[in-house]
Amino acid sequence: MKELKIFSPATVANVSCGFDVLGFCLDSIGDEMVIRKTDKKGIYITKIEGYDLPFEAENNVAGVSALAMLNDAKPDFGFEIEIYKNIKPGSGIGSSSASAVGSVFAMNELLGKPYNKTELTNFAMKGEALASQCEHADNIAPAVFGGFTLVKSVTPLEILQLPTPKDIYAVIIHPQIEIKTAEARAILPKEIPLKSAITQWSNVGSLVHALHTSDYELLSKSLTDVVVEPYRSQLIPHFNAVRQSALESGAIGCGISGSGPSIFNLCHGKERANQVAQAIKNVYSKTGIPFEVYISEINTQGIKIL
Ligand code: HSE
Repeated sequence: MKELKIFSPATVANVSCGFDVLGFCLDSIGDEMVIRKTDKKGIYITKIEGYDLPFEAENNVAGVSALAMLNDAKPDFGFEIEIYKNIKPGSGIGSSSASAVGSVFAMNELLGKPYNKTELTNFAMKGEALASQCEHADNIAPAVFGGFTLVKSVTPLEILQLPTPKDIYAVIIHPQIEIKTAEARAILPKEIPLKSAITQWSNVGSLVHALHTSDYELLSKSLTDVVVEPYRSQLIPHFNAVRQSALESGAIGCGISGSGPSIFNLCHGKERANQVAQAIKNVYSKTGIPFEVYISEINTQGIKIL
């Protein structure tokens, strides 16, 4: 095999209470990439469509993760990368992770699969770090493993796959403004009150339990973030109005997707997801800010060959 085309999915990181550790994988939005072997050693980004991104491998997240794998595998050939970007950079639904994961997933296939999913996550984190100036895996892990994931530890890297309850849909609203992850991290406090920490880790624990037991009510009560959301929600216009209308329309929960500006909602059943999508569209239509709304199943497969 000389060439592969892949679909690299968008993802939702944090899932309210799980800053930097929880994430889940989306189905209906993602990037496509073509990776091919070349005789010339090295990584060459030959095409980028959709958004304006750097072509030099060392300045491009897909290139940086690819270089990390190449330096480890040391094959006597190189790779060309074509990126067909659908996920807007700075959208909060894992744009950089999709690129970072795409190159290493496809290269691994073309190399005969020498690396496991945790190792792929590790290489992809190098690319993600270029975008967010910090190595974290909460967008990368769900893109690689699919479903809901928990980053148990970064050093050494340990990813836990969590169950996906039946019939759960994500509704995403993406206001067309850009929030840079590095900036959204810079506004967070370095220390948090013990009271907030207790609430937060209780919510993470109960969220994990809710996923294991398909307890939608407990899931709803667990999707609360007292640590990060109070700071970041101020960067997202009309966040509170969206949240209120989503919950009134029957969403299980609503929170900031990754570092924003996208807002995610989890819903039980497609009909409910449609109602929530309509409700939040109604809120945002009045604001004058352009936006996109996506309804997606939880993608339990993760990144895939097309
Ligand atoms: N956990 C990360 C953050 C996700 O919220 O900053 C975005 O990369």
